[in-house]
Amino acid sequence: MEKVNFKQMKDGTREEYEFLTAHEIDHTKHTADRLLAALVDLDKSLSGYQITRLGHSVQSATRAWRDGADIDWVVSALLHDIGDIYAPYNHDEYAATILKPFVREQCTWVVQTHGDFQMLYYGHHVGGDQHKRDRHRGNPYFDDCAEFCERWDQASFDPDHDDLPLNFFAPMVREVFDRKPYDPAVIRPDQREPLTNETAAATR
Ligand SMILES: [Fe+2]
Ligand SMILES: [Fe+2]
Repeated sequence: MEKVNFKQMKDGTREEYEFLTAHEIDHTKHTADRLLAALVDLDKSLSGYQITRLGHSVQSATRAWRDGADIDWVVSALLHDIGDIYAPYNHDEYAATILKPFVREQCTWVVQTHGDFQMLYYGHHVGGDQHKRDRHRGNPYFDDCAEFCERWDQASFDPDHDDLPLNFFAPMVREVFDRKPYDPAVIRPDQREPLTNETAAATR
C-alpha cells in the first residue's frame, strides 16, 4: 500500500489505519530534528534585540548547562521560546505543549508560565502588569519559574556572552524526544529538581 483509498475517515479499513499508524510512528522519530531545524528558523524572528531569538535560546541553554542543571532543564531552556514562530500571543503555552510528554512536569509548568513571570522585568515599561506572575503564587513551582527567568531567560540577551553552539545541545534534544511519551518516571508530578548543581557545574 502506498496510500489509503478512503476520502472520508469513516470509510477507512483496519489495514489502512495500521498502515497509517506505521507512518506516524516513523514521523515521531524525527521530532527532535524538526525542532532543531525550527530553532534555526527562530533566527529570522523578532529583530531589534542585540541577539537573535536563536541566539537567546542557545544562550539560555548555555547558562542552564553551566549552572549544572539537568537535561530536562537544559532542553526546556533551549526550547522555551520556540513558540515565537507561530504563536506570538501564547508562545509559552505553545512551547510547553511540545515539551509536555517528554520532560518533568516542573519544567513544563515553568515554560508554560514564563511569559507571565518575565513581565516583572518590563511590564511597567509597556503599560502591562509588572506583577502578573503574582496570580501564580501558591503554585509549588512558583520559585522555580522565578529563578528560571532571573538566571536564564531575562539574562540571555548579551551579544558578548560565550555561548555553546546549537550542535552541542542536539544530542540532548534527541535524548529527550526519544523518551517514551508521558512516562511517569519522566513526568514525576510534584517533584522538584534544583536549577543549579554546583558539583555538575564544576565539570562543565
Ligand atoms: Fe519567552
Ligand atoms: Fe526567552
